[in-house]
Amino acid sequence: MLDSSRLRNPALFDKIVTPAKAQELIRNGMNVGFSGFTPSGYPKQTALALAEAIRQGKQCRINIWTGASVGPEIEEALSEVDGIASRAPYYAASNKALRQGVNTGRVHYVDAHLSHFGPQVDFGFLGDVDVAVVEAAAITEQGDLILGSGVGNTPIFVKHARQIIVEVNTSIPLSLEGMHDIYLCNKPPFRREIPIYHPADRIGSPYVTCGIDRIDAIVESDMVDHVRDLTPPDEDSKKIAANLVDFLKNEQRHGRLPEQMLPLQSGVGSIANAVLGGLKESDFENLTMYSEILQDSVFDLIRMGKVTAASGCAFTPSPRVWKMYQEDPGLYKKALVLRPLDVSNNPGVIRRLSVIALNTPIEFDIYGQANSTHILGDSMMNGIGGSGDYMRNGYLTFFCTPSTAKGGRISKVVPMVTHADHTEHDTMVFVTEQGVADLRGLDPVQRARSIIRNCAHPDYRSQLTEYLERSLLTGGHEPVDLEHCFDMELHFRRYGTMHLETRREKS
Ligand code: COA
Repeated sequence: MLDSSRLRNPALFDKIVTPAKAQELIRNGMNVGFSGFTPSGYPKQTALALAEAIRQGKQCRINIWTGASVGPEIEEALSEVDGIASRAPYYAASNKALRQGVNTGRVHYVDAHLSHFGPQVDFGFLGDVDVAVVEAAAITEQGDLILGSGVGNTPIFVKHARQIIVEVNTSIPLSLEGMHDIYLCNKPPFRREIPIYHPADRIGSPYVTCGIDRIDAIVESDMVDHVRDLTPPDEDSKKIAANLVDFLKNEQRHGRLPEQMLPLQSGVGSIANAVLGGLKESDFENLTMYSEILQDSVFDLIRMGKVTAASGCAFTPSPRVWKMYQEDPGLYKKALVLRPLDVSNNPGVIRRLSVIALNTPIEFDIYGQANSTHILGDSMMNGIGGSGDYMRNGYLTFFCTPSTAKGGRISKVVPMVTHADHTEHDTMVFVTEQGVADLRGLDPVQRARSIIRNCAHPDYRSQLTEYLERSLLTGGHEPVDLEHCFDMELHFRRYGTMHLETRREKS
């Protein structure tokens, strides 16, 4: 039940409506900015009510803008009723109906660098924000918003929205108040540097500026975020983490990394979480994070006292970690800062802080190009997310992944990626359970030899070497042998196991 701790001005109570009423503000063709990030802090009731209205006959397909993926109450519910016309800048692959919509072309999906999307909305490149639907823990006396665990692009959506629906969620602990640092960048020609010099720096306000008059509807909610437990670390991810730690230690020994470790960024998914978790076993202390997403391992590291400051645009606590947070909010609150996405992923800040970036590719090729998005070249998984923001701008950047997928049937090291998200100019070090390929200062052929020797699974090494040697016969700075590349067994296995079957099913 909403009370004065959640709605801190009596005038706000007059704005409470049912979700069914609130969804009436959303009409066909509108651009709707939802709060939330991977899947944390996203509104649920209004989207579910909209899906129900569409099921009952409302004609409505909308363009959904967010920070990153949101939960099934938005993506799944609305795609099941064909209510999504377009989606940007990132979605959750686990929402199968939306993934299918994207991969059949029914949903126009714009896969964007996450640091680009908010500013593009701010600059008006993408059209108006017709409605912002925001989940908040509370609304202040002045009508400003106290967000939950995900900031994403919410401040920009609220700044521009013509209409605003706020879902005030009583399941969000009020202890989150004060954790956010909301800072809006100026528009050109008045842009300035973002004055962050340490991950813990606070430069903005704890609230999203809104104002009572701008709020059109308030919906009460107590639905919790749909965060799944991550897959626990397996032997491969433990080896990857151990390889990474050895490499970092060696960099310190040679004076290429300072004794006080530089801020870390960690990507999304089970592997990224497991690799970061591997630092628990290391003797690194006083770690800091300047990241986009803060997954479970960050909380374990804070509890152990190994991470002292962690900045992100969202944290995505699994049920286990939410429980841990609620048992001692003060401990985590001291360390955490939640920022807007265009600040957490800002290339200038990432460079200034000299962030060490750790991300996971779907596959990478022998010359050092990485694919983060498309399975077998044409089927979108999730999207590039913030990986490009960090990999291109980090001080030292790592792509960490097991050397194979699908129980060893697919090599993640390939002759040529089927889709390039990160070119060879954007990558530095690749780490698999087999070892580490440090590509700094290497030419393409040297890179290829290093990747095959250090990262490829032994089952695939000879095929990759054979491919490289054949390509070398034709010469060139970065030799390729297209015919052989697609003919070879490596690719045949990949196509054989998955792609041909999928194609057969489609036809
Ligand atoms: N070919 C076919 N399938 C592959 C594959 C490949 N080369 N590599 C991975 N997969 C499949 C896995 O088998 C798994 O499938 P399943 O869901 O059917 O089991 C799925 O892709 C996810 O891989 P998983 O091994 O579980 O890894 P993950 O949870 O760590 O996620 C990414 C890996 C690449 C999907 C994830 O990191 C991602 O979305 N990255 C892009 C965005 C990004 O880097 N964001 C960071 C921002 S800061």
